[in-house]
Amino acid sequence: MVSLNNVRAVVLAAGRGVRMKSEKAKVLHELLGRPLIQYVLRALATAGVKDVVVVVGHQEAEVKKAAGAGVAFARQAEQKGTGHALLCAAPALKGASGDVLVLAGDAPLVTPATIEAMVASHRAAGAAATVLTCCIDDSSGYGRIVRDAAGKFLRIVEENDATDEEKRIQEVNSGAYVFAARDLFRALREVTPNAKKGEIYLTDVLPILMSHQRSVATHRAPDPTEVYGINTRRDLVAATNFLRWRILERHMDAGVTIVDPSTTYIEEDTIIGQDTVVLPYTVIESGVTIGRGCEVGPFSHLRPGTVLDDGAEVGNFVEVKKSRIGAGSKAKHLTYLGDATLGAGVNIGAGTITANYDGKKKHATVIEDGVHIGSNTVLVAPVRVGKNATTGAGSVVLAGRDVAQDDVVAGVPARSLRASVAARGNSKPVKRVRR
Ligand code: UD1
Ligand code: CA
Repeated sequence: MVSLNNVRAVVLAAGRGVRMKSEKAKVLHELLGRPLIQYVLRALATAGVKDVVVVVGHQEAEVKKAAGAGVAFARQAEQKGTGHALLCAAPALKGASGDVLVLAGDAPLVTPATIEAMVASHRAAGAAATVLTCCIDDSSGYGRIVRDAAGKFLRIVEENDATDEEKRIQEVNSGAYVFAARDLFRALREVTPNAKKGEIYLTDVLPILMSHQRSVATHRAPDPTEVYGINTRRDLVAATNFLRWRILERHMDAGVTIVDPSTTYIEEDTIIGQDTVVLPYTVIESGVTIGRGCEVGPFSHLRPGTVLDDGAEVGNFVEVKKSRIGAGSKAKHLTYLGDATLGAGVNIGAGTITANYDGKKKHATVIEDGVHIGSNTVLVAPVRVGKNATTGAGSVVLAGRDVAQDDVVAGVPARSLRASVAARGNSKPVKRVRR
C-alpha cells in the first residue's frame, strides 16, 4: 500500500454550480444528510492525505464552514475555470515537491481505495500527471478522453468542443488528477482561455505537459459510480441512489436483512448488528447504532445519537432521537422518544411521547428496566420512571414527578394509585382503577 502522508491535495469548490439552479453553492447541497464537499474531504482523510487546500469562492463563508477545521483554504474571487482555480491554490502549495492530488468538490463518490490506487499508478508510471478516468455508458456532460490509434492519451475534450465522433467516446475524465508538483504550475500558467467559454480549463494543462516532454498517464476507476459528478438536481438524486446502495449493501453483507432496499434510507456512519431486520419505509440517520437481532420499521425514523441494544424493536411511525433503547425493549407504534434512556425489557405503549423540549432546553427521560408505559402516555422531561413501574393509558407524568420503582401511576397529572389506595387505608392490592 502506498503512503499518502506526503501527498498534498487541492479540492476545487469555488464554483456556483449554475446548473443546480440554486441560491446555494453546489458543494453545499446534501447527499444523504451531508454536504457534497464533506464526502470528498472524508475520502482524502481516510486515504491518509493530511494536507488539504480547498479552493473557495462562491459562498465562501458557508463552504468554509462545511469544510470544517483541519483544511486550508485558497480563494478564487472570480470563477474563471478549473485551471484558474488550481492556480489560485499555488501560493498555498508553495514549496510542494511531491505529488499534488486534485479533486473536484462536486464528485463525492470517489473512494479512498481509488485515490490510493491512482497515486500508486502515478508513481509506478513516473508520470508528470495522471488522470482518473472511467468508461461509462452515457458520457454526456463529461470531458472525453481522446487517444491516438495506439491508445496513447492525447487530450481531453469537453462536451462543448467535442465533434460528434468525440462525443461517442465512452471514456471520461473524472476531474480527479495527480500531478508532480514541480511540473504543474509552469505548465498551468501556459494554459490559454477556452475559445468558447473563456475559462482556463485544467484539462488543457495535460497536452502542455506533454509538449514539455513530460508524460501523462491515466488510471481507470473500477466502478463508474465513483467518478459520478454532480451538476444538476437530477444528478444529485442519482448520486444519492448510488451511495444509498453502497451503504445498504455494506449492511446486508454484514448480516442485516433489509426487506425493501428501495424504500430504506440509511446514512453513512451507522452500525447495525447481525440478524437485525430493517422493514420498509425506514430512515436511519448517521450516528445511529443498532445491536443484534433488532427489528426496525416499517416506517421508523432513527435520528442521530440513537442506540438500540440487542433485540430491541422499534415499529410503525416511531421517531427516536438521541436515546438509548435497552435490550429487548419495544416501542412499536406512534411514538416519539427523544433524549431518553430506556432500560431492558421496557414496553412503550402506542402513542407515547417524551416531551423533551420546554421551549428553551432539552431534558432527559429515564425509563428503567421492566417498565410498562401505557398507551398515550406523555412523559414530561426531566423525569424518571423507576424499575417495573407502570403508567396507565393517557397518563401525563409531569416534569420532576419521578415514578417510584414498582409504582402504578395514572391520570392527568399522573398520580400514584398505590399511594392513594394506601392513604384510604386499603392494604389490598389494586385490582381495578376508577377515577
Ligand atoms: C469538469 C472537467 C471535465 C470532467 C468533469 C468531471 C474541466 C474543464 N472539465 O467539468 O473534463 O469530465 O469536471 O466531473 O475541468 N470550480 C472552481 N472554480 C471554477 C470552476 C469550477 O472551483 O472556476 C470547481 C467547481 O466548484 C466544481 C469543480 O471545480 O467543484 C468542477 O467544475 P465544473 O464546472 O462542475 O466542471 P465540469 O463542467 O463538470
Ligand atoms: Ca462537474
